[in-house]
Amino acid sequence: MNSTHGLLTVTPVPAFAATYDAFQVADIAAAMAERHEFPYEYTYLGVGSRYWSDQAEMSTADSASSDPTPWLIATHAAEVVALLRPGRAARVVDLGPGTGSGVHGLMAYLSIVDRLDSYRAVDISPDLLAMSARRLRGAFPDAVGRIHVHEGDFTGEALDVAMSRGTDRIVVIAGGTLHNLRDPDLLLRRVAARSDRTDLLMVTLRVEPESGLPEFMRRVHTGRTLKPQKRLGLDLCGIDPAWYDTELGYNPVARELFTRVRLLRPVDVVFEGRTARFAAGDTVTVWRYRYLTAADVERQLGHAGWTVRLRIIAPPGGRTGVAAGDHVLFVATPVRQCVSGTGT
Ligand SMILES: C[S@@+](CC[C@H](N)C(=O)[O-])C[C@H]1O[C@@H](n2cnc3c(N)ncnc32)[C@H](O)[C@@H]1O
Repeated sequence: MNSTHGLLTVTPVPAFAATYDAFQVADIAAAMAERHEFPYEYTYLGVGSRYWSDQAEMSTADSASSDPTPWLIATHAAEVVALLRPGRAARVVDLGPGTGSGVHGLMAYLSIVDRLDSYRAVDISPDLLAMSARRLRGAFPDAVGRIHVHEGDFTGEALDVAMSRGTDRIVVIAGGTLHNLRDPDLLLRRVAARSDRTDLLMVTLRVEPESGLPEFMRRVHTGRTLKPQKRLGLDLCGIDPAWYDTELGYNPVARELFTRVRLLRPVDVVFEGRTARFAAGDTVTVWRYRYLTAADVERQLGHAGWTVRLRIIAPPGGRTGVAAGDHVLFVATPVRQCVSGTGT
């Protein structure tokens, strides 16, 4: 680290190069330089995957308050499967399986009723992918040869790998993954364009309650300790926690919750081939989440080519702070199904 006239010049720590390939390094450098953001999806790789595996050890589908995603999916799997063509076996396409805990209940139900054709997952994190494959192959030994995982970014070409061939697919985007994306609408449109009228889309999200924005989000909170996975990108870039203050809040224009840091000193982060420059007072966003009401999400799905067939809200879990909000399961079919008149 160099410091001239208060300007701190840093290079990423060795774990950065060990974690990301050349394309990812260039993507991170561009995001840092142009948007002043460390893209959150990259925090699932390398050491970041450990935070999720630890969390998964503790989460079960037993109650909505322990972890609403596995609970919602396990509890309502039968209703989801009832929307498929009668008697047909389903291929589960899991976009971002994480540790595999979210989709487990759906897989269990499909196995019990003998309607599991196969499972295919795409995840950007090789570590989480290995974890989900291990977990699901262990839980469903009869289906081992039909459980396939692929490393890749589903906002890019890997979506074609995930969606290649097949009918009666259940495309799963669970655990809030959709609303962490830079452009959730684009992914929804791209999945719709690759879907058949026999397919289903299953999304779980945390949404703004109809009663309005939770009190906690009505102002920006400073001085909070960042969760390790939220400061991971900054740590990897070599940005010392003493050089920033933290901010948690809600941006009503973008309709996004955010966690960002505000730099107290000017910092240059020198990546291979590119430098991201920050003045004192600039922010670096480390997490953001589009925060819509359930009705807004239905409209969002509609604009992207989907018709919502099921909308199930988890019982309130007493969560506060940035974790506040309702957890909702949406199941949708491609609009083309309705247009062709064969949907109901
Ligand atoms: C919040 S976790 C959700 C995990 C799981 N679906 C669940 O419900 O428990 C998000 C997962 O999506 C993956 N992911 C995020 N963005 C991705 C992208 N653009 N391409 C591929 N995987 C991505 C992450 O690596 C992580 O495994």
